Amino acid sequence: MASSAAGCVVIVGSGVIGRSWAMLFASGGFQVKLYDIEQQQIRNALENIRKEMKLLEQAGSLKGSLSVEEQLSLISGCPNIQEAVEGAMHIQECVPEDLELKKKIFAQLDSIIDDRVILSSSTSCLMPSKLFAGLVHVKQCIVAHPVNPPYYIPLVELVPHPETAPTTVDRTHALMKKIGQCPMRVQKEVAGFVLNRLQYAIISEAWRLVEDMCMKVPDDPEHLAARRQWRDECLMRLAKLKSQVQPQ
Ligand code: NAI
Repeated sequence: MASSAAGCVVIVGSGVIGRSWAMLFASGGFQVKLYDIEQQQIRNALENIRKEMKLLEQAGSLKGSLSVEEQLSLISGCPNIQEAVEGAMHIQECVPEDLELKKKIFAQLDSIIDDRVILSSSTSCLMPSKLFAGLVHVKQCIVAHPVNPPYYIPLVELVPHPETAPTTVDRTHALMKKIGQCPMRVQKEVAGFVLNRLQYAIISEAWRLVEDMCMKVPDDPEHLAARRQWRDECLMRLAKLKSQVQPQ
């Protein structure tokens, strides 16, 4: 059993992004508590994480210095949000992209957290000034926007609320580096942040090309699942290759 000397991270929302964050934090030696409104989602997440980690181990792509079993022993589910956040150093919110839902969750967290923990949102585009408006602990709040799937793509945008304390940004930056991510500081909140604005320009041009060339794109769930798996395998190989290439 691995001992977590590093501190405890809470994931709120155990879907696609929450699971990937959980794996990353465990790879860095952090104890991780997974919370979700749906108990079945927590069970699914734990099962899915176990399978993913085994596959990564077989492919030689497991992150961190701990074994699969050591990393898995750091991750647990917690059905009670109050218990989950007790003594936590970082809370990563990963619920669906819905401003009212996220505001409700941050208000709930705001009423039960201490003055040290960092409250971080995975939101893709909701502005920190709207998300964290009126929170007592606003200085501890930040957006840490990952790229899907975060386990393979290390870029994370850090977007502060105007009242976020500089120490919150620094601590989040250091934490992201510790789990092997590449955090980028966005100095001021801006609609769409930086990454999506660049990414969407490329995606919309790609769609225009598909349209202009009258190409048919498979959009049924079977194709989508296979293409996701293919994408993840490519990204895993690319990440491995990059780790072997020494910078000049
Ligand atoms: P998802 O739908 O896969 O997972 C959301 C999870 O939140 C579900 O397990 C759901 O049961 C849970 N949930 C719903 N209400 C809750 C509540 N009140 N309390 C606790 N848990 C609750 O969503 P996904 O894709 O993981 O997205 C999460 C966040 O990450 C969103 O803000 C999204 O914009 C952001 N994001 C998503 C990316 C993607 O490509 N999927 C990429 C980057 C960021």
